[in-house]
Amino acid sequence: MLNDLTMPDTEIDIDADRDSTEFSKYVVDRMQQLEVKNDLLRTQYQRIEGEKQQADDQRIKYEREVRKLESEVATLKTTPQLVGTLVETLKDGRSIVRSSTGPEFIVGISHFINEDELKPGVQVALNKEHLSIVSVIPMVRDPAVRGMEVIESPDIGYDQIGGLHTQIESLKEAVELPLTKPEIFERIGIEPPKGVLLFGPPGTGKTLLAKAVAKHTDATFIRVVGSEFVQKYIGEGARVVRDVFEMARKKSPSIIFIDELDAIGAKRFTDAGSGDREVQRTLMQLLSEMDGFDPRGGVRLLAATNRPDILDPALLRPGRFDRLVHVSMPNLEARTQILRIHTAKMNLADDVDIDHLASITNDANGADLKAIVMEAGMHAVRGDKDAVHHTDFEAAIKDTLIPVSKPKMYSEGMFA
Ligand SMILES: Nc1ncnc2c1ncn2[C@@H]1O[C@H](COP(=O)(O)OP(=O)(O)O)[C@@H](O)[C@H]1O
Ligand SMILES: [Mg+2]
Repeated sequence: MLNDLTMPDTEIDIDADRDSTEFSKYVVDRMQQLEVKNDLLRTQYQRIEGEKQQADDQRIKYEREVRKLESEVATLKTTPQLVGTLVETLKDGRSIVRSSTGPEFIVGISHFINEDELKPGVQVALNKEHLSIVSVIPMVRDPAVRGMEVIESPDIGYDQIGGLHTQIESLKEAVELPLTKPEIFERIGIEPPKGVLLFGPPGTGKTLLAKAVAKHTDATFIRVVGSEFVQKYIGEGARVVRDVFEMARKKSPSIIFIDELDAIGAKRFTDAGSGDREVQRTLMQLLSEMDGFDPRGGVRLLAATNRPDILDPALLRPGRFDRLVHVSMPNLEARTQILRIHTAKMNLADDVDIDHLASITNDANGADLKAIVMEAGMHAVRGDKDAVHHTDFEAAIKDTLIPVSKPKMYSEGMFA
């Protein structure tokens, strides 16, 4: 047929005729080939189509399952959650968690939790009904939130402290001098004290003293509060102690001030629970940091406690806290000074007699006196007065110094 079509009307060209025959043959072969291939591809296509259908069915099935699981997870998470701190993970896949209210629980762990995140000390959310860990709360790395308070240079001077003159002198000698004039110690050939411990009843100005010292030396002041430490850093206490000393060395000259030392430095008991064991690990770390600590370096260690009686004796051994400074209740003269300091910026009426006020506030510590001054000011504000009068102070004293005897936790003269 093709031949007919390509047949020329006039002169017959033999070569051309042979060419066209060959060409037709080629085309027919090619068509057959392609048809075979086409059939092959069609069956392949059908097979794949079938497989795709199957895969789609399966995908829908899995998607449905995922949705179900996700909604289950969501409901588990939306019920109120308890916050706890991971104490340790057990070999059987469960873990010990301390709840924020104190008690410890052994709880399960949701499969959705990445095990790498479960390090002792992390905060976890617990499902309230099943008490299992449902998520890990991201850790905050801010030093202030971690219980360390870094104050580059606090602005409380010695002039803001009433009384406590001998205490200030002791601190100058034991903390300030080694930082400002280390060569004196070198010359004389003695080591400055390693650690200085301020002890005395609450509210007498221990924290205040520490801040004033830091101000005077231009040192970085790193304040760590023992009680916060223990509550916040379960499993981490020892590490935070290490971090604090590390930071102090980096930012030297610096003063590490451990407030409420008793919270991490209480006497050790042999039958300690795991919470106490944790406190002990922290204390052991502190002791070892103190032992490896060069008293002539640019870091000074200062601590304060209201409860020297419960401190672990190991802390008070030579080479540890070897300088004790007793911060006592203010006497008449000190109370007068403290009242003057806190009323300095106040508009006082002529009838206010600070000496008299000091003489009638025998049981007041520095913090009480500050509170009295504040309260007197508020009293005047409430009365819409221009100045604070004697009657305002009288009312404030009555409100502030409630005459119940405070529990005597602290025994005077323990180290006298
Ligand atoms: N000797 C003092 N001179 C002036 N203010 C004082 C004195 N003692 C205590 N205060 C006031 O009471 C507050 C609490 O004192 P603080 O130093 O925290 O006591 P402590 O650490 O001994 O418990 C201080 O911020 C300060 O305002
Ligand atoms: Mg204090």
